[in-house]
Amino acid sequence: MKVRAMQKKDIADVITIEQSANQFPWTEKNFEDSLAAGHHAWVFCHDSDKIFGYTIVQSVIDEAHLLNICVSPADQGQGWGRKILNHVIDFSLSIPSSLIVLEVRGSNHRAQQLYLQSGFNEMSVRKDYYPAENGREDAILMGMDMTFLV
Ligand SMILES: CC(C)(COP(=O)(O)OP(=O)(O)OC[C@H]1O[C@@H](n2cnc3c(N)ncnc32)[C@H](O)[C@@H]1OP(=O)(O)O)[C@@H](O)C(=O)NCCC(=O)NCCS
Repeated sequence: MKVRAMQKKDIADVITIEQSANQFPWTEKNFEDSLAAGHHAWVFCHDSDKIFGYTIVQSVIDEAHLLNICVSPADQGQGWGRKILNHVIDFSLSIPSSLIVLEVRGSNHRAQQLYLQSGFNEMSVRKDYYPAENGREDAILMGMDMTFLV
C-alpha cells in the first residue's frame, strides 16, 4: 500500500470511487474546496499506483475532524478501511489534537463497527442531519479521546 497527499489531478479517480461507494456522494467541488482550504487529504494506492481509498481530515484548533473516509467497493472488507483509519489516528497523534470527531449515518453499521473497534465512542445524535432515500436520517457523532493514547 502506498500513501500520498491527494492532489487536484487525483480528484477524477477519487470521484469515481466516491460515487460508486456512496448513495449521497461528495461532489467534485467538495473535494476541490477541501484541497483549497488546506485540509489534510491522502490517497491510498495499490503497488500499481491505482487509487483504492482516500481520507480527508480537517484540523480545528485541538480537534481533528474526519470529513471523509472511503474504500472502493471492490476493495472493501479486506482491512483497508482499518489501515486508512489507523493512518488518521497516527496523523492526529502527530499534531496537537486531543480529539478526533466524525459523523456517521445511523444506517451505516459497517463504518460504525470500524470506528467502535478502533476506540471511538458515540457522543451524541444529530437528528435528521443527512438527506436519505425516504426523507432525512440521523447522524451519530463519534469521538476518540486522544489524550488516552499519549
Ligand atoms: C466504511 C469503510 C471505509 C470500511 O472500509 P473496509 O475496507 O470495508 O473495512 P475493513 O475491511 O478494514 O473492515 C474494518 C471493520 O469494518 C467492519 N466491517 C467491514 N465489512 C463489514 C460488513 N460487511 N458488515 C459489517 N461490518 C463490516 C468490521 O468491523 C471490520 O472489522 P473486522 O474485519 O475486524 O470485523 C468502507 O466500507 C467504505 O468506504 N464505505 C463507503 C463509504 C463510507 O461509508 N464511509 C464512512 C463514512 S462515515
